[in-house]
Amino acid sequence: MQRVAVVGAGTMGRTHADAYARMPNAELVAVCDVKIDAAQQLADKYSVRAFADVRSMLSEVDVDLVDICTPTHTHIDYIKAAAAAGKHICCEKPLTRTTGQAMEAVRICEEAGVVLFPAQVLRWFPEFRKMHDLIVSGAVGTPVVARTSRCSAYPRGTDDWFADMKNSGGVALDMIIHDYDWLRWCFGKVKRVYARGLYESNIPLTDYALVTLRFDSGVIAHVEGNWARPGGFVATVEVAGTDGLLSYSSTDAVPLTIELKAKGEEKVGVTVPESPVSQSPYYLELEHLVNCLETGTKPEVSPEDGLEAVRIGEAALKSISTGQPIALA
Ligand SMILES: NC(=O)c1ccc[n+]([C@@H]2O[C@H](COP(=O)([O-])OP(=O)(O)OC[C@H]3O[C@@H](n4cnc5c(N)ncnc54)[C@H](O)[C@@H]3O)[C@@H](O)[C@H]2O)c1
Repeated sequence: MQRVAVVGAGTMGRTHADAYARMPNAELVAVCDVKIDAAQQLADKYSVRAFADVRSMLSEVDVDLVDICTPTHTHIDYIKAAAAAGKHICCEKPLTRTTGQAMEAVRICEEAGVVLFPAQVLRWFPEFRKMHDLIVSGAVGTPVVARTSRCSAYPRGTDDWFADMKNSGGVALDMIIHDYDWLRWCFGKVKRVYARGLYESNIPLTDYALVTLRFDSGVIAHVEGNWARPGGFVATVEVAGTDGLLSYSSTDAVPLTIELKAKGEEKVGVTVPESPVSQSPYYLELEHLVNCLETGTKPEVSPEDGLEAVRIGEAALKSISTGQPIALA
């Protein structure tokens, strides 16, 4: 049985807490949030303890796994605190705000001998797992070019932290990091990143990025993302190989839609990708981690996978700022 504490009681904290509460080999034992009311509200739902300070929580409650669901720029502080206390760590994507922080996170967790699991949930979306398996089994021959897009409404986090682009990294880091990780899973190492986007444009509640990745294998991927859709989440994928084309669109079951901005409506919260299957990919992802901790096996997503996804996102932001392609070391 893994005893779990969730840090951050917002959209993802609630999603993760709900998953652990339903898992037979996990027990949610505490919730921590700088806003004690938010922590208390979530803790009350599962009759567990609420804390505003992670160190008090770690000294007062017996915990095996700390699950970090706070704004991205705060992840590194919680990774350090949990590793120092010898706790295993699950951390929402992006693993950290910067590559330097991600390198530090990987190093300190290795030194502390604790598991660091970057929550790259796309690998647990069955359609993305199936596409991955088809691609690596050679279903379209040798992959040549890939195109992905991921579009959603502007995320409205607590105190609108996503709108602080320096802290969230905007769409080029925060959202299409899902695709960077999935593409690396399919095609391996990325050697060069070139990007265009609105990252420093200061257009209120809108962001867009088009990122071109060149892989060591020669594959080129165009990764597009926006926070400009007033309605739900849309993701598409095309992978062309020497033997054919694989394509996917999350809208295929709904060929025509019209979405209108609600007049005067300020919706709080973040639109998260939905899956057509009944078991939430977030549940499947966390169940995988808990099972790995129970059996002492290595999770499918490594700390280095989390680091490399941040490295690509940071290179994309640098490329947007400088107009130059960025070679990855
Ligand atoms: N995997 C996904 O699909 C997905 C979707 C949305 C967000 N995310 C990621 O999850 C993380 C959290 O995003 P969210 O949408 O849940 O945000 P949110 O704003 O809904 O929730 C964040 C919570 O953290 C609390 N908080 C803020 N600063 C804190 C601090 N220093 N210490 C402790 N608590 C603090 C806030 O009070 C809030 O309750 C981000 O890294 C985000 O990029 C992932």
